[in-house]
Amino acid sequence: MRPTTRLTLLASALLVAPAFVALATAAPLTAQQATFAAIGSGSATDATPTFYADVLPVLQQNCQTCHQAAGLNMGGNLAPWPLVTYEDARIRAPRIASAVREGRMPPWSAADWHKGTFKNERVLEDDEKATLIAWAEGGTPAGNPADAPPTPDFVKIASETDGWSRGEPDLIIEWAEPYCLDDDLRDEYVNLSAQITEEMMPEDRWIKSIEYRNGPAVHHIISAVGALVPGAEPRVYEDGYGRLMRAGPREVRFQMHFNKQPGPGTAVCTNIQAGIIFKEDGEVIRHVTGGNSLRIRDWEIPAGNPAYSASVEYVFTEDVEILSFMPHMHLRGTAALYEITYPDGRHETLLHVPDYAFNWQHTYEFAEPPQVPAGSIMRFTLWWDNSENNPSNPDPSADVVWGLPTHAEMSQGYMNFRRLEERHIVVGEPIPAEFRR
Ligand code: HEC
Repeated sequence: MRPTTRLTLLASALLVAPAFVALATAAPLTAQQATFAAIGSGSATDATPTFYADVLPVLQQNCQTCHQAAGLNMGGNLAPWPLVTYEDARIRAPRIASAVREGRMPPWSAADWHKGTFKNERVLEDDEKATLIAWAEGGTPAGNPADAPPTPDFVKIASETDGWSRGEPDLIIEWAEPYCLDDDLRDEYVNLSAQITEEMMPEDRWIKSIEYRNGPAVHHIISAVGALVPGAEPRVYEDGYGRLMRAGPREVRFQMHFNKQPGPGTAVCTNIQAGIIFKEDGEVIRHVTGGNSLRIRDWEIPAGNPAYSASVEYVFTEDVEILSFMPHMHLRGTAALYEITYPDGRHETLLHVPDYAFNWQHTYEFAEPPQVPAGSIMRFTLWWDNSENNPSNPDPSADVVWGLPTHAEMSQGYMNFRRLEERHIVVGEPIPAEFRR
C-alpha cells in the first residue's frame, strides 16, 4: 500500500481523537502509554512498534478486507480468522511475521517491478513489513488504544450487511433449490439456471458491482453475469464505466464446477448468491466495457516436463485502452506473460506473473490503462510445470491436454478493454439500441 493512504489514515485518526478524551485525561499520556506497553509485554522497548499506533494501521490497509469476521468471499477463498483486535493479532504474531517475511501474505502474484502499476495491488512497503516483524518479535506490545485509527468503512459495511463488501445488493440471484453433492463425489461440472423474473428485473439496468457469495464446495462459476474463480474479488464498474444487464423474465445460466474431498459424511448441499448493485439514475456512462479471451490452443504438456510453455498472438483491430488482465490455468500453471508490440515497433511487457498460484487468480487492474492503437500485437504466453517437483501437480506421469476438470489444464487470459470513443449515456434514460442486442 502506498504511504499516502497511511497519511490520510493517520490524519483521520487525529480527527477522531476526541472520542478517546475520557481515556486520555485519566492519566498523563506518557504514563498511560507505558502502562499499555507493559500489558503487552515486559520485554518491549521504546523502539518496538505498538499494536494500536503502528501495527493496526498496516493490518487495516492490507489485511482486513479479508481478515475480518465478514471478510471477502473470493470464490470461496475465505481468510481463516480475523486480524481486527489486539488479541486477534497477538495470538497469531509468529504466523503473521513468517507470512509477510516469506511474501505469502498479502496474496499477490505480479512481478515486484510492477509495484504501482495495478490499482488493486496488494503489496506491503518495506517499512510496513519491518513494522509487523519487529512487533511480532519484540514482545507484541499493545500500546495506547487512543492511538488506534478509526475502523475502516469497509469493515463497518461488511459487518452491517452480513458480508456484502460493497453494501446490500439491489438484486440477489440464486438457485431456487440448493444443489446436493454425494459422499463419493470429487469434481462435478453442470449447468444450473436461475430465473430472473419480471418483478426482479422489470427493465434493463446498468451494473455497478457484482459480488458472489458461495456455499461450500463451489469451486468456480462462469456465467453471463461474470465469472468467478478462486481468489477473485467483486467486480466493480467505476464512475463512467458500465455494463448492461437485461430485463426479465429470463434465465441466467451458471456453468458450475463443484469440488470437494470425497469420503463418508462429506455429502453437502450448496447454493450460490450473486449480489448485484445497480447504478443510480442520473449517473453518466462514458465507457461501455468489453473484453476478450486470449485462448492458447493445440498444446500437450508431456509427462514430467518441468517448464512447458505455449503462446498465442492477438491483433487489435481498433484503438482501445486496456483495463485489466486475468490469466487462467489450473494446478500445473506456474507463470504468465502479456507482451505488446505497438505499430511503431515499441515493445513492452504489460504483465508478468512469475509465480502463478491456482488459489489466487487475481485480476490485474491497471491504474493507468495502456493505450493500444489498432494494429498492435499482443503476445500471451503461459508456462506449466508437469514434473514431480511441482507440489500441486495431481499426476506427473500424465500427458496433459486442455479440459475443464482441475486435473486437466486450461490456457487462457481474460482481457478487459474499452474503446477509446466516448459515449454519453445517462442512467435512467432510454438505452441506445446498439447495447440492447
Ligand atoms: C485478499 C484476501 C487476503 C488478504 C488481503 C490477506 N489475507 Fe491472509 N489469508 C487469506 C486467505 C484466504 C488465507 C487462507 C488460505 C491461504 O493460506 O492461502 C489467509 C491465510 C493467512 C495466514 C495463514 C497462512 C500462512 O500463509 O501463514 C496468515 C498468517 C495471514 N493470512 C496473514 C495475513 C496478513 C498479515 C495480511 C496483511 C498483511 C493478510 N493475511 C492479507 C486472505 C487474505
